[in-house]
Amino acid sequence: LQELACEKDLAGKKVLVTAGPTREAIDPVRYITNHSTGKMGYAIARAAARRGAEVTLVSGPVDLKAPMGVKLVPVVSARDMFDAVTSVSAEQDAIIKAAAVADYRPAVVGAEKTKKSDGNMNIELERTDDILAWLGAHRREGQVLCGFSMETQNMLENSRAKLVKKNVDMIVANSLRTAGAGFGTDTNIVTVITKDGAEELALMSKDQVAHELLNRIFAAKH
Ligand code: CTP
Ligand code: CA
Repeated sequence: LQELACEKDLAGKKVLVTAGPTREAIDPVRYITNHSTGKMGYAIARAAARRGAEVTLVSGPVDLKAPMGVKLVPVVSARDMFDAVTSVSAEQDAIIKAAAVADYRPAVVGAEKTKKSDGNMNIELERTDDILAWLGAHRREGQVLCGFSMETQNMLENSRAKLVKKNVDMIVANSLRTAGAGFGTDTNIVTVITKDGAEELALMSKDQVAHELLNRIFAAKH
């Protein structure tokens, strides 16, 4: 019923959402990842689809079902996500990067299981490509780019720096130190940062946050 009741104000818009963590293999048995559950990104994809947008959801490994009417593109690593996003980015009206992309991956992936030995072990890590920064550098005229920023300290300052450095229109910042925000919760408290300033939204469900973000993304002029 809610499906039918929702105003289709995003009909004709193409929206790309990324969600979830990435997994960076160490060997065939082990990997490096983070605590992202994908809930915020999936909520955005669901909300955009309900409002009539044509939604592509590029998702790392999560325990969630694809929202109805959304084209799901499952990926594993940061490299996979980079390829999946950049291959369809040119046609998008808005790109929302809620994924928690690994910043580093093992420089060498073991072909076989690494056996333990006495003493410590080091894994050399190399940088992954920054997908959002690539999008900011290759953006199409009129395309809106929205990134996320999860911080444990200096949230505003660090998030503002990402807005500028990555050349995006909006950074949605949240702090792991705020009750009701963070990994795996069904609610969030976010601060929407644009070149015009920072707006702190009230505590609300991730579904409500999703609609508030879409309202601002599609009102954005630049
Ligand atoms: N991001 C990305 N590709 C990466 C790393 C991050 O597209 N390789 C995107 C995230 O999806 C998010 C935004 O950049 O939308 C900010 O991610 P975040 O991890 O908060 O910031 P970083 O720029 O990676 O800096 P740091 O982790 O050092 O805070
Ligand atoms: Ca990061």
